[in-house]
Amino acid sequence: MMKKILAAVRLLILTSCFCLSTVTFAAMAQAGDQLSNADCIKCHQEAPRDIAAQGGAHKTEISCMDCHQGHPPTVRDIIPACSECHSGSAHFELDNCLNCHSNPHAPLVLKLAKNITGPCLTCHQAEGTQLKENQSFHSTMACTACHQEHGKVPDCLSCHEPHADDMVQADCKLCHQAHKPLVITYAEKTPSKSCAACHEEAYTQLTASTTKHHELSCAKCHKQTHGMIPACQDCHGAPHPAGILRKFPECGQCHSTAHNLNQWQDEKK
Ligand code: HEC
Ligand code: HEC
Ligand code: HEC
Ligand code: HEC
Ligand code: HEC
Ligand code: HEC
Ligand code: HEC
Ligand code: HEC
Ligand code: HEC
Ligand code: HEC
Ligand code: HEC
Ligand code: HEC
Repeated sequence: MMKKILAAVRLLILTSCFCLSTVTFAAMAQAGDQLSNADCIKCHQEAPRDIAAQGGAHKTEISCMDCHQGHPPTVRDIIPACSECHSGSAHFELDNCLNCHSNPHAPLVLKLAKNITGPCLTCHQAEGTQLKENQSFHSTMACTACHQEHGKVPDCLSCHEPHADDMVQADCKLCHQAHKPLVITYAEKTPSKSCAACHEEAYTQLTASTTKHHELSCAKCHKQTHGMIPACQDCHGAPHPAGILRKFPECGQCHSTAHNLNQWQDEKK
């Protein structure tokens, strides 16, 4: 009882400080839960303002009094648990909803710490699995080390140097995927220049060559997976009589290498 009186006194002081208040303490105490949603703003500015601006479904689907049932001093505990309305999925089993949804009046404005992984997996299982099945340093990082804001995707170049000065962010995707960066694959149209950053010799030889291989891109022969080496016969079948090939089993014995076919190929023209 003493508590109630103290609370009432505190409320009286507060309400008279608010000045804006047109509802009196006496009226509130008597009316109790007969307050209506329209009354709240007379004493509370912040919550109505936040809800109006960013309330999302907490504005459109429910009202103040669906969550706050009653009011001090008549009812003391009027802060709802999220679980009163949200249950039935892994995401709703997490602890401390307000750690991320820091303002229930703006439920989709998130505060994300930099070390979050597990909670993301309650909705993005596929990405977690991909990182786990393709071990790389990225698999050891927290999701929010890269995705600092929900839904935002970082530039690789915010953490890495490019392989060559003329390589830009958009080029990284030609060969890498963020969640399996060591599984390097590329399309057939990938420009040879992007391989040149690490294979200068092959690039210089091929571009200097005047044989018909000159017209082929690296990715046209080294198909799709980094490190793949084609056999000459994949494209040429058996170009010479079997007798010759038995005697000289390596094409390179006469043609040198694919990047630098023998000079007499040029002279022929
Ligand atoms: C006459 C002014 C007045 C009106 C109208 C009013 N409040 Fe309050 N409200 C207060 C005061 C003063 C307190 C602080 C009471 C306390 O801490 O004991 C408070 C506290 C609260 C709290 C915090 C309770 C807690 O446990 O921390 C909530 C939530 C709240 N009000 C919601 C509402 C809602 C929702 C409405 C509209 C339905 C509303 N109020 C209308 C003055 C008002
Ligand atoms: C989805 C449920 C929900 C709705 C809808 C809601 N609130 Fe709240 N409100 C909360 C929760 C949860 C807290 C406690 C937040 C915390 O602990 O940080 C809270 C805290 C408050 C507080 C005390 C802390 C503060 O921010 O000053 C007031 C006052 C308040 N709400 C008023 C309102 C008013 C007014 C409305 C309608 C315009 C409203 N609330 C709508 C859930 C809700
Ligand atoms: C009185 C019921 C109620 C309470 C309590 C409640 N919510 Fe909600 N919330 C809803 C409804 C209804 C929706 C819209 C339907 C849905 O998404 O389930 C919603 C939607 C949301 C959304 C999505 C918003 C959007 O615009 O899409 C978030 C996030 C959310 N709630 C978080 C919370 C958190 C965190 C708490 C606890 C602080 C909480 N809610 C407490 C009823 C409630
Ligand atoms: C680690 C951070 C984190 C925690 C903890 C967290 N959430 Fe979320 N929540 C999110 C993110 C991120 C989203 C996705 C937001 C979006 O889609 O814009 C989300 C979305 C939601 C949504 C809307 C989507 C849906 O599935 O309906 C609701 C409702 C929700 N959370 C409620 C809760 C509740 C209730 C809790 C506590 C049991 C909680 N959240 C705990 C980060 C969190
Ligand atoms: C409650 C479910 C939920 C939670 C929890 C959640 N997300 Fe999401 N996330 C979504 C939804 C829904 C989308 C929108 C998907 C779409 O537009 O295709 C999304 C989108 C994204 C996107 C952008 C996708 C795109 O195509 O651009 C990223 C990145 C992302 N989330 C990362 C995260 C990270 C990191 C976390 C943990 C902090 C997280 N999410 C937690 C539901 C969630
Ligand atoms: C090293 C940084 C990094 C880490 C760690 C990371 N991501 Fe991503 N994520 C990205 C980038 C960059 C993209 C854009 C797609 C791409 O480039 O492959 C992306 C895309 C996404 C998308 C959009 C859908 C898609 O696959 O394109 C979702 C959802 C997502 N990430 C969730 C997560 C989750 C959940 C985690 C933690 C389990 C996580 N990410 C860890 C960098 C990262
Ligand atoms: C938030 C910072 C961050 C972002 C964004 C990021 N990375 Fe990384 N990445 C790292 C760190 C840290 C390492 C480990 C140290 C290193 O190798 O530089 C790493 C390692 C790697 C590795 C070597 C992996 C291993 O296990 O050896 C590759 C490949 C890679 N990153 C590619 C990418 C690509 C491609 C992107 C964009 C899709 C990207 N990274 C985005 C931080 C990041
Ligand atoms: C033409 C394909 C290709 C492109 C484009 C490409 N990479 Fe790579 N990247 C590779 C290959 C292949 C490796 C592995 C080299 C090895 O085995 O050591 C690699 C390795 C890496 C590594 C691991 C450390 C290192 O330097 O060896 C990082 C980090 C990296 N790439 C980041 C990037 C970034 C950032 C971009 C975009 C600016 C990018 N890559 C564009 C093919 C590519
Ligand atoms: C970031 C540097 C880097 C880039 C970019 C790069 N490579 Fe490599 N590549 C390497 C390294 C280092 C090796 C040797 C280590 C290994 O086998 O992974 C290698 C090995 C190879 C091999 C196998 C050599 C052997 O003896 O088995 C081929 C073929 C190859 N690369 C082709 C390419 C092609 C084609 C591209 C462009 C689509 C490319 N590389 C882009 C660094 C790179
Ligand atoms: C990915 C397919 C592919 C591979 C692998 C390949 N080639 Fe070719 N090669 C071609 C094409 C396409 C031409 C041009 C044919 C034309 O225009 O008639 C060609 C032309 C040639 C020519 C004639 C050159 C000229 O300028 O007249 C020789 C010789 C040759 N290849 C030898 C080889 C040898 C030896 C290897 C293995 C070391 C090899 N090729 C691997 C596709 C390939
Ligand atoms: C006509 C098909 C063809 C083209 C085009 C081609 N290669 Fe090759 N490459 C081969 C073949 C076949 C081998 C195996 C060695 C040989 O017989 O010449 C090879 C070997 C390699 C090797 C490993 C051995 C070495 O010589 O270092 C690397 C690395 C390589 N290529 C990179 C490249 C790059 C980078 C390009 C583009 C600048 C390229 N290749 C263009 C067919 C090709
Ligand atoms: C004993 C030396 C020798 C060997 C071994 C050899 N070649 Fe040749 N190849 C030649 C000569 C010489 C020509 C030029 C013939 C001409 O111009 O009519 C030629 C021409 C070619 C041509 C161009 C044909 C055209 O119509 O323009 C291709 C393609 C070719 N060789 C592929 C291969 C492949 C693939 C191998 C390995 C399986 C191979 N060669 C092994 C000597 C050889």
